[in-house]
Amino acid sequence: MPRNLVIYPGSFDPITNGHLDLVERGARIFDELVVAVLLNMEKEPLFTVNERVEMLRQVTQTLPNVSVDTFSGLLVDYARRRQARAILRGIRAISDYEYELQMALMNRKLEPEIETVFMMPAESYTYISSRLVKEIFRHGGVVKGLVPPIVEERLQRKLAAVGGQ
Ligand SMILES: Nc1ncnc2c1ncn2[C@@H]1O[C@H](COP(=O)(O)OP(=O)(O)OP(=O)(O)O)[C@@H](O)[C@H]1O
Ligand SMILES: [Mg+2]
Repeated sequence: MPRNLVIYPGSFDPITNGHLDLVERGARIFDELVVAVLLNMEKEPLFTVNERVEMLRQVTQTLPNVSVDTFSGLLVDYARRRQARAILRGIRAISDYEYELQMALMNRKLEPEIETVFMMPAESYTYISSRLVKEIFRHGGVVKGLVPPIVEERLQRKLAAVGGQ
């Protein structure tokens, strides 16, 4: 029987409770979910790819049909290699829509066989982004409830290492 595999791509720098909410929702409707960390990002990351993968593995270890991988190059090429049926993306607010629509339609043009599926997180997570979490943390704000506890610890260590607080 063909398994329904979905790829959830992103930079996950770091994973937030919003991402995790989406992973849990996706894992309930697909047979397998692969969280795929994009390697060649334009933005300067806070965490290395290995650190991000490690955190993702830790926070998804209780979900048996979820795995973590990395990819570079075109997402559709990677999705094809993994024989994925779909790409999962999150929509937090209208502001996500325009960019996500463009990406989804471009990916459909490149690979018509792979669908993009959008899911919404719980309302309480709609305002969370990795960028904001990092910004809040840098300025000494409280990130409790925005990221999993192990990510909070890593943020603390990371900022201590780079000469923060
Ligand atoms: N809080 C959230 N709820 C639902 N989906 C989310 C949330 N945060 C991110 N996503 C979705 O997860 C996918 C990967 O996003 P990405 O790695 O860019 O995270 P991000 O939090 O948006 O990070 P950044 O702030 O660096 O852009 C995207 O489809 C994005 O819309
Ligand atoms: Mg983003």
